[in-house]
Amino acid sequence: MTISRIGSSISQSATLALNQTAAALRAKGEPVIHLGGGEPKSKAPADALAAAAAMLKTGEVRYTPAGGTLALKQAIIQYTEEFYGTTVDPANVIASNGAKQSIMVALQAILDPTDEVIFPVPYWVSYPEMVKLCGAVPVPVLTEDGSFHPRIADIERKVTPRTKAVMINSPNNPTGAMYAEEFVAELVGRCEKRGLYLIMDDIYHRLVFDGRTPISCYTYAREPMETSKLIVINGVSKQYAMTGFRIGWAVASKGLIQVMTNIQGHQTSCPSAIGQHAAVAAINGEQGSVEGLRRTLENNRNALMAEFDSFSGVTATRPDGTFYCFADFRHYEKDSTKLAKQLLEKALVVTVPGVEFGMDGHLRISTCGSLQDITEGVARMKWVLDPSAPAEIRIGDRTVVRDWM
Ligand SMILES: Cc1ncc(COP(=O)(O)O)c(C=O)c1O
Repeated sequence: MTISRIGSSISQSATLALNQTAAALRAKGEPVIHLGGGEPKSKAPADALAAAAAMLKTGEVRYTPAGGTLALKQAIIQYTEEFYGTTVDPANVIASNGAKQSIMVALQAILDPTDEVIFPVPYWVSYPEMVKLCGAVPVPVLTEDGSFHPRIADIERKVTPRTKAVMINSPNNPTGAMYAEEFVAELVGRCEKRGLYLIMDDIYHRLVFDGRTPISCYTYAREPMETSKLIVINGVSKQYAMTGFRIGWAVASKGLIQVMTNIQGHQTSCPSAIGQHAAVAAINGEQGSVEGLRRTLENNRNALMAEFDSFSGVTATRPDGTFYCFADFRHYEKDSTKLAKQLLEKALVVTVPGVEFGMDGHLRISTCGSLQDITEGVARMKWVLDPSAPAEIRIGDRTVVRDWM
């Protein structure tokens, strides 16, 4: 069997693999606590579910235009006006099978082999793989101060004549950090000045805490839309708990959106018709579920921070948004894959190793689950690692004694 160089350079999605392991353990009746998940547990909005059901009832489920239906583009235009204060045309919008596909077709539209794409560390697991799929070169950039907030100087250090784009995700997966407005403002200006594409992955922008509000990069753009190299990514997966509907989108110049649409047309013909119909209903419908989810996540974040306060040896930076916390476990174990495996085997707790996000010694802990998942999950982690934690613990209906310290 011969496999392409690009194909064999792509790793399995660590998060999807972990979900499969956890599901297999659960199927065997094991009391697994999943702190590795990347999707809300709440239900999709009733409006979206009703719209999907109504469409199915008609039996008319067909291909749509490659870049999405006009109804969805109009809903995205309204969304862009509301959250970004910018008016765009349908030709500035592409809807895709998830924000993931929007990012992928954007990269395929702008990258030639050996072009470089800069993004801060830690990064979402798919960024390097997506760049590699284009035959281009991922350039992860570590912040000099080790914080989760990149500085302009960190990014500037990595710019070369081959740099084509900068890609940022704020609020961030895996850290939950929301980058400062000044940073976004300056980055938009620098990218415009250098003629670089700037991909803003805003998929978590409404899931922010402590009174924060979404930032619009357009506030700082000087370049007119049609010559702009700004690509704004968003979608329904996270904010509306609609991951399985697979609808995301990109807003950019008409010229770029046309190329992205051409590519997408040959990849998947169009986004799922049912997904699009449901997404229109979610965006145009009752928005209470988004605020409900945001509040639950803020509450869960607070509970997780309280648990980490009493976890000696672990440093957890307080997330500003999302449903992730990226905690530093280097005091106990520098190899995060080994650590995640140990936690799963000994305590049936699923976490995601930091090395997958470009930063070893950390674990990504998700707050998507219940408060009980969070408190019990961290108690089990303490039991595995912290010598000062009680040596005996209940896991499901059995009492287990720690025998390795
Ligand atoms: C940072 C980031 N961007 C994009 C996506 C993709 O979202 P979608 O489900 O819409 O493809 C995810 C999903 O985990 C993500 O975490």
